[in-house]
Amino acid sequence: MAIQWFPGHMTKARRQIEAKLKLIDVVIELLDSRLPLSSRNPMIDDILRDKPRLIILNKADLADPEATRKWLAYFKAEGHTAFPVDASTGTGIKEIPEQVKILLKEKIDRQIARGMNPRAMRALIVGIPNVGKSTLINKMAGRHIAAVGDRPGVTKGQQWIKTGGNLELLDTPGILWPKFEDQEVGYRLAVTGAIKEEILNIEEIAFYAVKYLVTDYGSRFQERFGIDKLPEDLSNPDEIVAVLEAVGRKRGCLISGGRVDLEKASRTLLHELRAGKLGRFTLETP
Ligand code: G4P
Repeated sequence: MAIQWFPGHMTKARRQIEAKLKLIDVVIELLDSRLPLSSRNPMIDDILRDKPRLIILNKADLADPEATRKWLAYFKAEGHTAFPVDASTGTGIKEIPEQVKILLKEKIDRQIARGMNPRAMRALIVGIPNVGKSTLINKMAGRHIAAVGDRPGVTKGQQWIKTGGNLELLDTPGILWPKFEDQEVGYRLAVTGAIKEEILNIEEIAFYAVKYLVTDYGSRFQERFGIDKLPEDLSNPDEIVAVLEAVGRKRGCLISGGRVDLEKASRTLLHELRAGKLGRFTLETP
């Protein structure tokens, strides 16, 4: 796999987040509902330590609802508060300030006991690239927030975004990295489009898409692409490639001699998958 995260990048990202942690009361950890573990930073517990944390399974509109239920139970068993959100439409975001208030109850009660007027709760959104951090910030703010990097040469101090419900967000999210050492993690992310295709082999991504999806969503594959026989042995690469070829034939992705253009078939499959044409799916279960 051609993706590299150098230790230097990670150290820098980590320091940036640690500096922001000092300013906030709570962290909103954003994961992709379709792959909650693969979209999770492996060192997150170590980075956040005992900072109160809310886990949000974003893009819930794209994920398999049954799998999302299992993931919510998984995070609950881990001792976390977690719930699903669709940041693109805003479904579920009302829950955020309410849950933060519950998490910070002791702190707020202490302020009240001291006769203080509880100040706004302050949160930082963290997550890997493409998980929906900007979308969520904009949705919670009710307007488009320009990221610092959008205006070259302009540096500004920390900006707090009011979101209602006495919750303020830091305007720049904390960017984390996924666990690239594990190539399956990389491919799962690539199947969802979280990793740009230029740096990965499209046929390999499609190969993994078939491998991951045939097990749980095989009948949808069969229906959509008119596939007679699904692979019986997913450890046999030939059987997976046969599915890709069937997709190519169905979609007319052919080259001279009537052979299947595997690259074109792969693009077509991934495009249809990401556009939701094969329905909602989750790529990993707890
Ligand atoms: P980031 O800041 O964490 O890097 O992610 P960003 O908000 O840019 O979101 C990445 C992509 O994911 C965007 O799509 C965004 O619209 C989409 N997205 C974010 N949250 C959700 C969600 O809950 N559901 C769905 N279905 N999509 C979501 P894009 O194709 O890159 O851009 P665009 O189509 O919005 O222009």
